[in-house]
Amino acid sequence: MKKNIVFFEARGGSDKGEDGHRKDTMPMVNALKAKGWSGEVIFLTDEILRDANETKKIYEYTLSKADGYVSRVNPGNLKEEKLYFDLLRSLCDAGLVGMPHPDAMIGYGAKDALTKLASTDLVPTDTYAYYDKDEAARIGVEFSDKHNFIKSFPKTLAKGERVLKQNRGSTGEGIWRVRLENPADYNKFDTLPLDTKIICTEAKDNHSENRELGEFMEFCKSYLVGDNGMLVDMTFLPRIKEGEIRILMLYKTPVYVVHKKPAEGGDAFSATLFSGAKYRYDEPKEWSELIDWFLGELPGIKSKLGDYDLPLIWTADFILDTDTNGNDKYVLGEINCSCVGFTSPAEFMEKVAIMVADNIIDIVSAKLG
Ligand SMILES: Nc1ncnc2c1ncn2[C@@H]1O[C@H](COP(=O)(O)OP(=O)(O)O)[C@@H](O)[C@H]1O
Ligand SMILES: [Mg+2]
Repeated sequence: MKKNIVFFEARGGSDKGEDGHRKDTMPMVNALKAKGWSGEVIFLTDEILRDANETKKIYEYTLSKADGYVSRVNPGNLKEEKLYFDLLRSLCDAGLVGMPHPDAMIGYGAKDALTKLASTDLVPTDTYAYYDKDEAARIGVEFSDKHNFIKSFPKTLAKGERVLKQNRGSTGEGIWRVRLENPADYNKFDTLPLDTKIICTEAKDNHSENRELGEFMEFCKSYLVGDNGMLVDMTFLPRIKEGEIRILMLYKTPVYVVHKKPAEGGDAFSATLFSGAKYRYDEPKEWSELIDWFLGELPGIKSKLGDYDLPLIWTADFILDTDTNGNDKYVLGEINCSCVGFTSPAEFMEKVAIMVADNIIDIVSAKLG
């Protein structure tokens, strides 16, 4: 083994500290050094990725110098995400340890991970993913009515309040809580007419709009256009009021739990900081029931999401629900794995960086040692 790891970062972007790095990157590099390994950062830009020669130089350099890479690129910071993933894929194919493999990033991070897990206890069975025909063909999904947004959504909404999630946004953009203006109409019809009056609340800032179903669905079609376009339709979980519970995972180990309580009052359901949610950081042992259950589900999650190795740094978000016996149960709302940072709480950062370095050494040694 070379005992050297390359960290890929994007040049620029609002997630950077004064030295141009993500604030939690150099602590990981330094933690590797303290353990007798080394790490180096390679910055990527759209210009580099568009230039086949430059990309090849980086490919060859990384292959000759490193045992593996850690991806630290926020997808929003590179337009050429596909070329970036191609570079990572070619490095993995050549035997480098990908942390994570690009297809793991796509599989775990996409919103339709939820529908791939709808057959498990993690996600309600009435969770659907919608695509347009081109995207369904591209990703090998046989297009049917249950993937057809315009046909399916008026039926799911007829039964109760829903949340529609676009794939591309983050921090609540294009995540819509959708409900009927007249709640007495739930469960009366098999499907709803296009002029049904609805109220839509966006998680970005909890603002609400009075809309009609048909024109709102027309607007939402933009979320389906292009590569990775999709909408996920899941039941609205009213206990989001009590908070969203995020587990920060380093590979297979939970590190801490963030309890995110949405702003009080009104239609608020968003757990993003910008929308006014309050965050609290807990030790995993304070959430042992959730965590023990989740860890038990990990092998199933891994196999259902493409059987790639678990990501190095990732999060799983849960919302409380009540089962048919009146007991608490947790529902998975989202997995993030392509741009997870651990800069807050600040007092944890150095400690987590050391744990990341330990995980990197373990993962690489197990694969190449
Ligand atoms: N099924 C749901 N029921 C209630 N609230 C939800 C549900 N799904 C998401 N939310 C709320 O919407 C927010 C944003 O949704 P999320 O799936 O995390 O998308 P993203 O973080 O990528 O924007 C969550 O933090 C949570 O507060
Ligand atoms: Mg989220």
